[in-house]
Amino acid sequence: MNQLAILGGSPRFSSDLPVGQLYFPSWDRYEAAMRGIFERRYYTNQGPLTNILEETLSAFFGVKHVVVVTNATLGLIMAAKALSLQGKVIVPGFTFIASVQSLTWAGIEPVFCDVDIDTHGLHPASVDSLIDKDVSGILAANLWGGACAIEELQEIALKRGIKLYFDSAHGFGVEAFGRKLGGFGELEVFSFHATKILSATEGGCICTNDDTIAARLRNMRSSYGAGPPVDVPLTSNARMSEAQAAIALMSLEDFESNVENNRLQGAAYSRALADIPGISLVRVDRDCKSNYQYVVCRVDEQSFGLTRDQLLLALKRENVNVRRYFYPGVHRSVPYNESFSENSIGLPNTDKLCAELFQLPVGALVNVDIATAIGELIGELSENAGEIRGRLSQ
Ligand SMILES: Cc1ncc(COP(=O)(O)O)c(C=O)c1O
Repeated sequence: MNQLAILGGSPRFSSDLPVGQLYFPSWDRYEAAMRGIFERRYYTNQGPLTNILEETLSAFFGVKHVVVVTNATLGLIMAAKALSLQGKVIVPGFTFIASVQSLTWAGIEPVFCDVDIDTHGLHPASVDSLIDKDVSGILAANLWGGACAIEELQEIALKRGIKLYFDSAHGFGVEAFGRKLGGFGELEVFSFHATKILSATEGGCICTNDDTIAARLRNMRSSYGAGPPVDVPLTSNARMSEAQAAIALMSLEDFESNVENNRLQGAAYSRALADIPGISLVRVDRDCKSNYQYVVCRVDEQSFGLTRDQLLLALKRENVNVRRYFYPGVHRSVPYNESFSENSIGLPNTDKLCAELFQLPVGALVNVDIATAIGELIGELSENAGEIRGRLSQ
């Protein structure tokens, strides 16, 4: 057996295995798509491919309007403005920092709320307890190819007369409560970053069934304005280029097979990790049709023998580029850590998830054999935990 890299051996994998989809179409398809752009002499400003992408996505999601943007972060900032949010908005601490930064950019104060330990999404009762006269909205996140308690949050928003919208950056193609994500709340924002299951290299979209919100977003997306003119507080440049749209269309063609590959990789991890003490896969998407975007893992230090961070260090030495998602939680990250004070309900579930979870590599650069080998490697690390702890303490 090869010596473990953390104990002096050479890395088990010769190249870096990342967390993230990292979809690449074949060179021939890419070349043909780029040739089309050259022939049309049209790079950007709502070109033909961008229009086709919006129409195709609108049918895919089953929503009236899809507004494509150059990334989800700008989409979230524009969303806050298009919804005329003011004062405070409730947001999870357990999310990517961009969810919260979008509020800060839009001049809104985030109110951090705890998450449900099973869905990893906003905990409805905690949300309800944090609403006061200054709260104008709820920004909920649908994580890891699953969904949060959408229906309960919808009831709360309706009852309290505030707006609910979703950061569904991880949720492309996910079905929850009998419907595809995209049509819930006032709007939903998706990311098409290279690490996501649908890639435009950089990109994203906003889905809504509301004509006014869509018109506002289209006018805000480009400083030139677009579509029927409506009054908007600010404009930006969040346009998606034709090259981005071309990749997104190819990625969409391959979406089902990418989901299936990820599902098989997840199943391989599950088999390989089944008998290793102290390690388990976390599925937040049991009640959903998932996109298998992420493989989320939990470590119990006592039974596994290593802390989460010791395990991650050992895996990184083997070129398995595992990641702590999300760490340390947005409420404990700059710039929010300075002003964050434990609110009346605290964020215990968020802090627990931030301390225990990590993401395993899954996507185009991984396959079932690699997932199995990584799972077995984790078993070897557990068997050698004592020696590894000794080495790390030297
Ligand atoms: C939950 C969440 N929200 C928002 C974003 C931002 O997406 P983008 O990189 O497209 O701006 C990400 C990116 O990973 C994310 O994970």
